[in-house]
Amino acid sequence: MGDIMKKQIQGILIGAAVAVGLSGFAGVASAQDMIYKAGDRQSGYMYAAKETQAIQDDDLGNPAYIWVDEGEALWTKVDGKAGKSCATCHGAESAMLTDVGTRYPVYNAKLGKMQSLEQKINEERQEKMGAKPYKWESKQMLSLTVYMRNGSRGKPMNVSIDGPAAKFFEAGKKFFNQRRGQLDMACKHCHEDGAGMMIRANMLSEGQSNGFPTYRLKWQKPGSIHRRFRGCNKQVRAKPYGYGSDEYVNLELFVAWRGRGLSVETPAVRN
Ligand code: HEC
Ligand code: HEC
Repeated sequence: MGDIMKKQIQGILIGAAVAVGLSGFAGVASAQDMIYKAGDRQSGYMYAAKETQAIQDDDLGNPAYIWVDEGEALWTKVDGKAGKSCATCHGAESAMLTDVGTRYPVYNAKLGKMQSLEQKINEERQEKMGAKPYKWESKQMLSLTVYMRNGSRGKPMNVSIDGPAAKFFEAGKKFFNQRRGQLDMACKHCHEDGAGMMIRANMLSEGQSNGFPTYRLKWQKPGSIHRRFRGCNKQVRAKPYGYGSDEYVNLELFVAWRGRGLSVETPAVRN
């Protein structure tokens, strides 16, 4: 292609971008900027049906964006005895908390264990705002978590597993590889050995967590990663652990590390 023709095409594209307005164009561009593959790892997006991918690609059509907006409203809402909101201390946008969506769970020295983003949110509410903790799978908790993770969208997952986190990482890894339930299956049997195979109507993915909280078409709402863990435990007829249990927070750390380098996609859309 000649240089003049290239310039003309570029001109047409820029013209089109201006015509559709910045916001519409920004949505398309950010979906293209996502890292869906890192090393031998692939996001659940790559295993999803084309129609499901299309819903995720379109920020205006993605039903989970209502939850991002809701979370943004909660971020600036004053609540609790101290008369403060998250924004009072952290500024108007959660994205100011650097890469928070890529780094959790993190080791918390005071607790002497790992802390998930949901648990940090409740710590902030109780200790800094004098407000009541949110219930794990409540609309508020999901909205605020979706909003904060969305602030890191497009950035690579990057949890730390060194130092004091190491032993919790090992516990999570053990959980992932351990057979359980009446079907006597481990996470790895479906999500490592089985990735790409069909199980009933679903294609098994690698069980990556980079899109969480994920909007499931089946649920018609977003769900936390712990809700997903519970569902997967129940599929093999194993007893699920509690929301926020140490077992699941450690598992979450291991699963996040497995997906290192993949873009945070929140709010992802899945079947
Ligand atoms: C009174 C001021 C104050 C309020 C209100 C507040 N925070 Fe914080 N927050 C801090 C300070 C100071 C830190 C750093 C020390 C720490 O982690 O406790 C912090 C740390 C954090 C972190 C960890 C950041 C990291 O790099 O790991 C998160 C996440 C967070 N806050 C979220 C929130 C959310 C969500 C709210 C509202 C529900 C909130 N904060 C309300 C002062 C506040
Ligand atoms: C019997 C098979 C099976 C087992 C065992 C299993 N899962 Fe799943 N899991 C599924 C199916 C089916 C889905 C939905 C389709 C997909 O993404 O694989 C799923 C989805 C997921 C997802 C969501 C992926 C995404 O992109 O949204 C995660 C995360 C996950 N599983 C983690 C786990 C973990 C951790 C374990 C072990 C506690 C586990 N699974 C055990 C079948 C299984």
